[in-house]
Amino acid sequence: MIFDDLRAIQLRYGFLPKAELESLSQRSRTPLYQIHSVASFYPHFHLSPPPKADVLVCADMSCHLNGASELRSELEQQFRNSNAADVQIRDVSCLGRCDQAPAVSINDEIFTSVTAASVETIARDAILGKEVREPHPGHVRVQCASDPYGQGEKYGVVRKLAATKDGDAVLTELKESELRGMGGAGFPTSTKWDLVRRQPGTEKYIICNADESEPGTIKDRFIMTHLPYLVIEGMIIAGLVTGATRGILYIRHEYRWQEEILGEELRRCYHEGLLGKNVSKSGLAFDLEIFVSPGGYICGEESALIEAIEGKRAEPRNKPPFPGQAGLWQKPTVINNVETFANVPQILARGVEWYKTQGKAGARGLKFVGVSGHAAKPGIFEVPMGTPMRDVIFQHAGGIRGGRPLKAFAPSGPSSGYLPASMLDVRLDFKALADAGSMLGSGAIVVCDDTTCMLDMALNAVRFYRNESCGKCVPCRVGSQKMTDLLVRWTHGGVAENQYHADLSLIDELCQAMSLTSICGLGQIVPAPVQSVLKHFREEVQAHVLKGRCPSGICFTPTARAGEAQRVGIRP
Ligand SMILES: Cc1cc2nc3c(=O)[nH]c(=O)nc-3n(C[C@H](O)[C@H](O)[C@H](O)COP(=O)(O)O)c2cc1C
Ligand code: SF4
Ligand code: FES
Repeated sequence: MIFDDLRAIQLRYGFLPKAELESLSQRSRTPLYQIHSVASFYPHFHLSPPPKADVLVCADMSCHLNGASELRSELEQQFRNSNAADVQIRDVSCLGRCDQAPAVSINDEIFTSVTAASVETIARDAILGKEVREPHPGHVRVQCASDPYGQGEKYGVVRKLAATKDGDAVLTELKESELRGMGGAGFPTSTKWDLVRRQPGTEKYIICNADESEPGTIKDRFIMTHLPYLVIEGMIIAGLVTGATRGILYIRHEYRWQEEILGEELRRCYHEGLLGKNVSKSGLAFDLEIFVSPGGYICGEESALIEAIEGKRAEPRNKPPFPGQAGLWQKPTVINNVETFANVPQILARGVEWYKTQGKAGARGLKFVGVSGHAAKPGIFEVPMGTPMRDVIFQHAGGIRGGRPLKAFAPSGPSSGYLPASMLDVRLDFKALADAGSMLGSGAIVVCDDTTCMLDMALNAVRFYRNESCGKCVPCRVGSQKMTDLLVRWTHGGVAENQYHADLSLIDELCQAMSLTSICGLGQIVPAPVQSVLKHFREEVQAHVLKGRCPSGICFTPTARAGEAQRVGIRP
């Protein structure tokens, strides 16, 4: 509930004045330090008055590859004589518009494919007190191969399940389908649901994770826009099967239009009796609501997300126990990704055999992937699981912009590390990508052309983790800063050979410590981008460190030096 109060205060004053927090503390009988600790955790809340134009430039992978650094430098130049109360220009983490990079947020409204000139115009309007509004994307619904309903009546699986109440049959089919989680970890869905179904008690929860904040990850935005009924149907099925009577769809606050679409779909479901006290006349109850995230990549980690719903700082919990045993309010909780839920009615409506035949080379089902970076036609594509990356990038996403050669690609944002173009035939599949030393993750393919500096890209990814670390555990909090400092030093060149070897040993030690001892997946995955670049692009790293030369001509310009040092906050 605390977020509703904080949002109301911020809406009224533009920030959270101290006196208002004190009054909220008294009203709600919550100690002020607790309110402050929550308000100060989330990037969406301002503890001091924001400037008239609060300009945030996305600095992450896809935007970085599309000129975000240069954009920010130009904006700083354009507004160099402006008052800080009028305009501030800062970096921000991925805004979920990686296919329309570079993206900026101005007073919490998002603008895409921007130029310095277009941002300046909007910012100057904001300074003059004019209301700035992000353009409505307008959504013409796209027909997807994975939609079992097409133009026909939807929610057929829920209607059937409400009549049969045969949860065991659902679990058997899901198990046979071998559906795995699409949020990153790939955990078998039926195992998770079965665990919650077997838990005693009636208070259980279903949560849909629509936080989608990893750079390059945009597929859930597409699914919620075009297949909202499949996501909601998947959640209702989960409720009926596990005995949970309440569902929460946790969505990032930058997905305002998707929130609207889902809200409309929920109202329709209540109206048609598919949600509420008597789901499709089954005598079973299931209520579903939307929870808008107060922000931050860490909120996507399942236990941090649960903490956020409980009104606390989104700091991951130690596991076990897992959410299936003790999740929201310590009750058994199913938490799945948007795409995982959308897969469930597909499988149940069309059958496991259909699902099996959709993949290629032994893989199953269809997959939504986002392709961004230097792609000629960035976007979200629905492809058979098991499709070679070459086809995804060159057939679906049109290859590399300007016909340039591909140098590297990240199969799934910073978490997957970078693979060289020579590995382009790897298939989009859990096992194939794991065998290649990477991962399927959330299907966030980021492509880099031959002008890209891979050390710069490693730094960009590590810096993202450093910025987004919640700070709860030392290995991640300190380790991500140390790794960032070290890479910044490397991009500055002039490191003696013995120091370089000492740095390499330190990186090894740091990577081990972080992956073994960090509490959650964020700290555990920080090593991936650095390790992959050292493995596949070591010569390029050595050219920087030992010869003071950036083969791509990116790292040694005065702007790059000043900019990066300032941005990553390197200690002198
Ligand atoms: C730092 C971090 C961020 C994450 N962000 C997301 C996210 O935005 N969406 C998501 O579905 N899973 C995310 N995950 C994975 C979730 O913790 C969890 O595994 C997932 O929601 C489970 O759903 P699935 O089994 O359907 O994949 C994240 C994990 C970590 C460590
Ligand atoms: S690993 Fe990082 S993000 Fe995860 S709990 Fe520790 S400090 Fe927080
Ligand atoms: S919007 Fe910039 S990287 Fe995603």
